[in-house]
Order: sequence, then C-alpha cells, then structure tokens
Amino acid sequence: MKCILVTGAAGFIGSHTTLVLLNAGYKLYLLDNFSNSSPIALSRVAKLSSLSKKEAQERISIIDGDVRDFSLLDNVFSTSKRNGERINSVIHFAGLKAVGESFEKSLDYWDNNVGGTITLLKVMVKNSCRNIVFSSSATVYRPKNEAALIETDPISPINPYGITKATIEKMLADIGGCQSTASAQQNSSKGWRIACLRYFNPAGAHPSGEIGENPKNIPNNLLPLINQVGIGRNKSLTVFGNDWPTPDGTGIRDYVHVMDIAEGHKAALDILLSSKPQLLIMNLGSGKGTSVLKLIHIFEVTNGIKIPYEIGKRREGDSAISLADPSQALKYLQWEAKRSIEDICRDAWNWQYKNPIGYL
Ligand code: NAD
Ligand code: UFG
Repeated sequence: MKCILVTGAAGFIGSHTTLVLLNAGYKLYLLDNFSNSSPIALSRVAKLSSLSKKEAQERISIIDGDVRDFSLLDNVFSTSKRNGERINSVIHFAGLKAVGESFEKSLDYWDNNVGGTITLLKVMVKNSCRNIVFSSSATVYRPKNEAALIETDPISPINPYGITKATIEKMLADIGGCQSTASAQQNSSKGWRIACLRYFNPAGAHPSGEIGENPKNIPNNLLPLINQVGIGRNKSLTVFGNDWPTPDGTGIRDYVHVMDIAEGHKAALDILLSSKPQLLIMNLGSGKGTSVLKLIHIFEVTNGIKIPYEIGKRREGDSAISLADPSQALKYLQWEAKRSIEDICRDAWNWQYKNPIGYL
C-alpha cells in the first residue's frame, strides 16, 4: 500500500485532498499544528470516506505537530518504517497563506513556509524519500492583466507570501538538480520527483457540506466573505474597486473548485510515482475568468439569496485579472477542472449554511 505524509492535512485544501487519497486506497500520516484548522475536519473526512470506522482507523495516523520540528517529523518516518509501511511521498500544504498578514509578519512567513519546508526536506533526505507535491500559488507570477498566465511567464511575486512560495519552488528545483522554475517539465538529475502546483483561486467545498473553508481569523478571500454576508455575520460586501480595466470594472479571477484541486494532487502523485525523476511545475486553474460582480450574481441566483454590496476602493496589491492557462496540467497530469462556477457557489454556501460557525 502506498504511504503518504500530508502536512497541513486539516486545512481547507488538505482536508479535501485527504478525502480523495483515502478513497483511492492510500495509507496516510496526517500532520497539522491546527494553527488555522480544527481536528474535527479530519474526523469528518474519515466519516465521509468510503471506509468503515475500523478501516479508517487503520489507514489514518494523525500527528498534532509542527512541520518545523525535525525530531517529530523524523519520528513519523521511523514509525512508518516500524509499521512496515514506509512513507514514500509527501504532500506539503502546511504554511501561512494570508497575503496582507505576510507584510506585517514577514519573518513568520519565512520561518513557517521556507523554514518549515527546509526542515521537511532534510527529514525526507535522511529517510531517502524524494517524492513531493508542493502547494505553490499563482501569486508567484508577475500580474499580466491581459492574458492567461503560463508556466514560463516571469516569476516576480509582489508580496512576502508569494516570495516565500517562489523561494521554495527554487529550492526544490535546486535539490532536484533542475535549471530553473520557468518550465513546466524538467528531468531531475538527482532522483527527485517533485510537483509544484500553482493554484489559482481555490473555492467551494465538498458537496456534502461536511468539510469546507474554515478560516480561524477574519477571512481574506471573496467566497468566504460572500458566505459571511449570506449568513448574516456581515451586513454587506465591499467590492474592491469598479474601475479596473475589465468589462464591468471589477477584478477577474480564476476560481477553481477545491475538489478539482484535491483531484489534481492525486493526478500529480500518480504521474510522479509512475514516471522518471522530474520536476513538474503546473498551473491548477479552470482557465475561465469571473469578475467580482458576476460572482455575486451567480451566487445569488444559484442559492436564492441576496448579497448586498457596496463599491469601495481598490485593495492594495490587487491586480485586474488573474487567469490560468491550464493546458500543461492537461498535457502532463491529464487533469482539468471539471466543476463549474455554479458548483463552486452552491457548494460554498451549502457548507456555510450547514456550519454557520464552522467546525464545532
Ligand atoms: P489552510 O490554512 O486552510 O491550511 C494550511 C494548514 O497548515 C492548516 O491546517 C494549518 O493549521 C497548517 N499549518 C500551518 N503552519 C503549520 C506548521 N508550521 N506545521 C504544521 N501545520 C501547519 O490553507 P489552504 O487554503 O488549505 O492552503 C494550503 C496550502 O495551499 C498553503 O500552503 C497555501 O499557501 C497554498 N495555497 C492556498 C491558496 C488558497 O487560496 N487557499 C492559493 C494558493 C496556494
Ligand atoms: N474582493 C473584493 N472584496 C473582498 C474580497 C475580495 O472585491 O472583500 C475581490 C478582490 O479584489 C479580487 C477578488 O475579489 O478581485 C478575489 O480576491 P481574493 O482575496 O479572494 O483572491 P486573490 O486573487 O486576491 O488572492 C488569492 C489568494 C492568494 C493567492 C492569490 C493568487 O488569496 O493567497 O489568489 O493565487 F496568492
């Protein structure tokens, strides 16, 4: 049985990916320090899976710990060996992700994101594990604003969070013996199998409404903020500018369903484990753009509720358009986003409606 360590497993994308991997038959070591998540997410994942309670207990080991803790991580690898189920791959979600906060607390971002990944990689090397899927982000690109972003576009992040992601990509290319991070596929001369997945705007929730996005602090992203208005926690949404160079003046983003993103991780892992050592750098996006006003409209029509909004100023650091060219993921991973923007709005609201105060 293939055995995987998932860091940040209880988080938004980690929990959905864990469900996909469980249903696909993997043995999972799930590590999280629960700084931005709840252990309840993982018990719900186990219940949602196709496994019996006993099978789920056998297939999941939960570790409450920090990815920066070398001895703890090393111990997880040793335990897996003792149990006769050596961890052969890592999916690395753990990290901090709020763009605004990364300006205030940049050292925390370097420590958690870059420091955490260095520790993880050292433990992997010590335990001869050279297969990793890493959560990168569209924020590594220099905003282009007129066309879809492709993997060979210039890397030039404009916030500390994005700089940590670009740094980790470079580090991974380096240990893999690869030239750069400006190519969708390169062979690794050092025996590593690495996928850096550049997510665009993950959103939505599992259609059951049992797991979803549950930020501990004030949400930063549009869909959770729309949900908060829908549930009555906020009176209205502020649209950050209607003077962008887009058809309706509001920002256009590439929203991609979190279950599509989760399946993208399985696709990446399957390809890595069945191919020669290589570095894959892939956009995970739908290739379709939706403006803020259009998203509000689709949300209202799909869910039959009103989302009051007002037009505010542009948010610092925003760009007009962020859109993926997802063709390399289709070519190399045979992955493409299957779910629609309506599915995203329906599932996001279903999760919020069923869990008005998140996991409790
Ligand atoms: P999330 O905050 O929901 O999940 C991250 C998880 O990592 C949380 O459960 C948190 O408790 C855990 N964690 C944080 N620091 C840790 C540490 N030092 N040790 C152990 N656990 C730790 O975020 P998410 O939306 O699920 O994002 C997952 C990954 O994807 C992150 O690396 C994020 O930067 C990246 N990403 C997210 C988005 C997005 O819009 N959600 C976009 C691009 C990239
Ligand atoms: N927006 C509003 N009002 C709000 C919140 C957002 O109008 O209250 C707008 C933004 O201006 C933007 C769009 O909604 O046009 C989406 O904003 P998000 O904050 O949801 O997403 P971003 O595209 O700004 O950022 C996201 C992730 C980052 C990641 C980036 C690129 O939050 O972590 O995508 O991948 F870096």
